[in-house]
Formats: sequence, C-alpha cells, structure tokens
Amino acid sequence: MFSVKEIYDFWGRFPLLYRLACFFFFLMHQHFIRTRAARFFREQRGRYMEVCCGPGVNIPYLTSGKNGGSSTWFFLDQSELMLKSFRRHNKNSIYNNKLIRADISHLPFLAETFDGIFCSLGLSVISNFELAIGELWDKIKPGGRLVIMDVKPFSGRLSFINPIILPIIVAMTGWNLTCNVDEVISRLLPIRLREDYLGGALYIVVAEK
Ligand SMILES: C[S@@+](CC[C@H](N)C(=O)[O-])C[C@H]1O[C@@H](n2cnc3c(N)ncnc32)[C@H](O)[C@@H]1O
Repeated sequence: MFSVKEIYDFWGRFPLLYRLACFFFFLMHQHFIRTRAARFFREQRGRYMEVCCGPGVNIPYLTSGKNGGSSTWFFLDQSELMLKSFRRHNKNSIYNNKLIRADISHLPFLAETFDGIFCSLGLSVISNFELAIGELWDKIKPGGRLVIMDVKPFSGRLSFINPIILPIIVAMTGWNLTCNVDEVISRLLPIRLREDYLGGALYIVVAEK
C-alpha cells in the first residue's frame, strides 16, 4: 500500500498519464465538468487559490475569460513532483511564481486572504480532511466562496459498479473510502449550491462565507 504522497509523486512523474487517467475517470466528461466548476471564479475578479492543484489541469478553465485572466491566482500542492510537472507544462506562465508547496491542513496564509478557494479531487485523499476544510474556510474573506469538486461511490442503480471499480480507483488515487467528505461538507459549511454529475459519483458544492 502506497502513501498519498508516493502516489502523487508517481503521477507527478507522469503528468500525461495523469491527464489520460482523468479522461477516463470523468467518464469522458472532463472538459464539461471542469468548465462547470471553474465558472464560479470567472464572475468577478479577485484573489483566488487552487489547493491540491496537481499538475495544473484546471488552469485553462480557471484563468480563461475576462475576469479569470485578470484575477490573481495561487496554486498549492504538497507534492514537489506535481509542482515540477505544473511548471514544465505551464512554461512561461505567470502562475509559475504563484506556486506554493504546502500541506492543505497548514496553509501559509493569514485568515481571510482569499476571495475564493477551489479544491478539486483533493479532500477525498486527505485523512485529516476535516481539519483541512476548517483551514480553507479560515482563509476565505467574508463574502468569499469555497468551491469543492469531489467524488463518492456510485449510488442507486449504478452501485453494482462499485466493487469492480473502487479497488482500482483507490489504488490509483489514494482515495480514503472511510471518510464521508460529502456528509462532512454538508454538516460544516453553509452550502449555497450543489450539482451532481456522473450518476451522483462526482459533485460540486459552493459554500459562501
Ligand atoms: C487527485 S489529485 C487532484 C489534482 C487536480 N486538482 C485535479 O483536479 O485533477 C490530488 C492532489 O492533491 C495533492 N495532495 C494530497 N494531499 C495533500 C495535502 N495534504 N496537502 C496539499 N495537497 C495534497 C496531491 O499531491 C495531488 O496533486
């Protein structure tokens, strides 16, 4: 069994493979779903951060468009190899000097620093994710928003797929199946909006402070 750090250091070495895995992981709806999640940051300019940013797959979605392009973005991840591949794949990008290596549970920022924070497929791989949610929330300004995109097992008619697919996904991602991120988010945060995709296996929630 590999640790989360070892798993993402591996993906950091093979970012194209990571992108390919995402293509299947999102059941070929990656572009559509990532665009949906990113739209919450394009409504107005601000100071934003993506945590658990990985190799930077969300950059084109988050930073395109009038407001996206003129906002200030920070990108944070704990894996140095992920950040390395971020830099390699975004050569000459202004975002390369906004990269931070840190643990999401101990963010190196003052309280109420950001107008918004985005965490995509991050919390479900973090064992102390409850602490991380508190930390993210603390760094958001009043009126700001936290957008979380994450996964959960299939439910309803599609739940028969779980025993086949979950062991593979757990091995590939370090997904912590014992943590019910979805339930904890709903309990801890004032959710303004929720959208479910892929038969409920992927969700986007927007909490406003
Ligand atoms: C599944 S990837 C998500 C990458 C990207 N956000 C996406 O949507 O494809 C999870 C990322 O979380 C990072 N990560 C895991 N634990 C972390 C922690 N405690 N603090 C910061 N980043 C962490 C990993 O290094 C990895 O890059």
